[in-house]
Amino acid sequence: MANARIGLVGLAVMGANLALNIAEKGFPVAVYNRTTSRVGEFMGEAGELARNIVPCETVETLVASLSKPRAIIIMVQAGAPVDAVIGQLKPLLDAGDMIIDAGNANFHDTIRREATLREDGLSFIGMGVSGGEEGARHGPSIMVGGLAESYAVIRDIVEAISAKYQGEPCAAHLGTDGAGHFVKTVHNGIEYADMQMIAEVYGILRDGQGRSAADIGTLFDQWNEGPLKSYLVEISGKVLGEVDEKTGKPMVDVIVDMAGQKGTGRWTVIEALGLGQSASTIEAAVGARSWSAAKEARIAGQEILGGVSSDGASIPTLTDADLESALLAAKIIAYAQGFALLEAAGQEYGWSLDMGRIAEIWREGCIIRSAMLDDMASAARKGLPYGQLIFAPGFAEKMVGSSDALRRVVAVAALQGLPAPAFSAALAYYDTMRRGRGTTDLIQGQRDFFGAHGFERTDGGSGHHGPWAQGF
Ligand code: 6PG
Repeated sequence: MANARIGLVGLAVMGANLALNIAEKGFPVAVYNRTTSRVGEFMGEAGELARNIVPCETVETLVASLSKPRAIIIMVQAGAPVDAVIGQLKPLLDAGDMIIDAGNANFHDTIRREATLREDGLSFIGMGVSGGEEGARHGPSIMVGGLAESYAVIRDIVEAISAKYQGEPCAAHLGTDGAGHFVKTVHNGIEYADMQMIAEVYGILRDGQGRSAADIGTLFDQWNEGPLKSYLVEISGKVLGEVDEKTGKPMVDVIVDMAGQKGTGRWTVIEALGLGQSASTIEAAVGARSWSAAKEARIAGQEILGGVSSDGASIPTLTDADLESALLAAKIIAYAQGFALLEAAGQEYGWSLDMGRIAEIWREGCIIRSAMLDDMASAARKGLPYGQLIFAPGFAEKMVGSSDALRRVVAVAALQGLPAPAFSAALAYYDTMRRGRGTTDLIQGQRDFFGAHGFERTDGGSGHHGPWAQGF
């Protein structure tokens, strides 16, 4: 086959599954992998889909196998490997050809690569793909950034391979250059916060109430039938229900409590701070993973610092319903912070991001898919008051109805000495956003006192100084 419609470089798990997905939807795809033995192995795994796949042993043959304008997906490790593949392909491509980075790239790299390739007459698409291995194979959520006319060339393939929500493709062009990768980064930030919050509930039930993994798993299964219905609650129930064959213990009990992270959560937080925002629930989740790595220090800390001295008898008991409502409230706040960050970045980078569309394409296929996203999409479509999801009709009522439970959970966790950093961050954000008068009047006074920074007066005008400044 000399006229493959699209090429794909990188046949590790995600790339291989994406290639099979493309072939299955009827698009001839040419594939190449740096370790060429993997190409043959992959063809063996492809079964009857192999008839739609062109195996290539060199990048030259890959490029030669494609119909024009050529479009090549790169699915390799983010960072330098992406630049290396672009460097190999560039001299072989003609003006109008396109490179698509489908990995978890840092969107600043995507902006740079798009600008550089555009100067050479090539198109570059930064495409965030969510859904893990299963999603890549059977339908991921796809967030596209680049020129709209470039996307038009591959739109039929992208929509065909994407997940569907009530028949609608969970794929969209969201803006120029880094928009798709930025939205994917924030998706991952929300994913971190959601996972952390679920883990905090697990900790409160395990260490605060002595509940077994299986029992907590069953509770999560039940919650997955209600307003918390989501992929992450579903898989948490499954993980907790699993038993280790070797020891007969719950699987979760034989997993070391040190979490890995590849960078997207951290990038979300860095970008939030850079834009003068604070995605505090996501920061709490990233920080919790970082602290988890200090396993030896934590074991030592258990000896050095000991337990808490509060009187267990006087600590209120949390009900399962309290925890369910608290998780709902905290999760809405994580999304709210994510949307606020998307809004700020959209303005900064000129992407005019469509929040409703983003929520819509997250309804299926991606890791943070949840029953709530359809309501979020409707709320975003109507416009979020002050950019705040928690002020939107429907969500404001949910927050008011569940915030007392969040308050009880944070309070009980604190009294029991159980860490709940993401829940605490969510509650602090909620309480900040529902107070017309905060406490930064004092901070302004302090700044003026030691640095004559000036302040705005409540009765008008800026650049005022307090009497303390007179002696300077
Ligand atoms: C997805 C996932 C996927 C992956 C990330 C997160 O949307 O399919 O987010 O992109 O799991 O790489 O990985 P870390 O937890 O290792 O940062």
